[in-house]
Amino acid sequence: MKTLKFKNGDQMAAIGLGTWKSKPGEVKAAVITALESGYRHIDCAAVYGNEKEIGEAFNEVFSKGTIKREDVWITSKLWNNAHLKQDVAPALEQTLNDLQLDYLDLYLIHWPVAFKPEVSMPEKPVDYLSPEEAPVHETWNAMLALKKEGKSKHIGVSNFSIKKLDDLLSKTDEVPEMNQVELHPLLQQNELLAYCSKKGIHLTAYSPLGSGDRSEGMKQENEPNMLENDSIKSIANKHNASPGQVLINWSVSRGTAVIPKSTNEGRIKENLASDSIDFDKEDLKQLADMDQQYRYVTGKFFEVPEKGYDNIYDE
Ligand code: A2P
Repeated sequence: MKTLKFKNGDQMAAIGLGTWKSKPGEVKAAVITALESGYRHIDCAAVYGNEKEIGEAFNEVFSKGTIKREDVWITSKLWNNAHLKQDVAPALEQTLNDLQLDYLDLYLIHWPVAFKPEVSMPEKPVDYLSPEEAPVHETWNAMLALKKEGKSKHIGVSNFSIKKLDDLLSKTDEVPEMNQVELHPLLQQNELLAYCSKKGIHLTAYSPLGSGDRSEGMKQENEPNMLENDSIKSIANKHNASPGQVLINWSVSRGTAVIPKSTNEGRIKENLASDSIDFDKEDLKQLADMDQQYRYVTGKFFEVPEKGYDNIYDE
């Protein structure tokens, strides 16, 4: 299994199990299956609403003793309503309680957007805190304190553009260790990849399979289906692999981590086996040619110009 290396020598397995959209009633079994099948990286977030059930899975697996807590990389994310500096530590504490853990391996600021503490999902502009009311570098400083305390071994961000990373870096000496963003052959983000590699920031690819299980409200009309794409299917046939495996291996081959979500036992196993594909030059060219800057997760739902959030991805 390929890994991403951090400055202190820690290593994160490149392929992790995603848990966004994994339903209660299904996610516990999925996490147990994943760990027992060899996954050593599980990606979580408070807002996914399933950390309690994932915690039951961790407890069950770790208490058996065959897989140790320290052998698994566990990530979670700070929700947008806990950006105020006094709210960051309690939010992590809740996540640790839910996941039944003493520490995380990685804690991320989920979005460069802040809500009022009492708002889980905003409905109107007044539900937001502007960047002046909740400066992201203050949230970052609170995250740094958690790292110093050992509550999370590593810290980073998610959904940050080059501009937002630059803004943050101008106010801190501590570079985020990870930026988790949407990445797949239709959205290759080569500039962001080059920027992050120069600054020593790792990337994790979310929605690597196109997140076809998003709610209808989050979907655009006529979305492309990467799993049915002719180039992806022909590369898959050539390597005796599945389209999903080609998409996952594309991320691994670029040196990023990738977190395909599945609650299906067969696909959970299939996805972990993705990194055995060896792309040749022709495959890589065909994949590179697929870029069309297409986002499945547009971020438009958090764009509220009157509160200073007018362009989430700065593009
Ligand atoms: P399921 O959970 O039933 O396996 P993403 O990781 O981009 O968010 O995509 C998740 C979606 O892709 C889910 O609908 C998931 O369904 C499906 N999926 C996961 N693995 C595969 C695979 N190997 N082939 C096809 N679909 C997959």
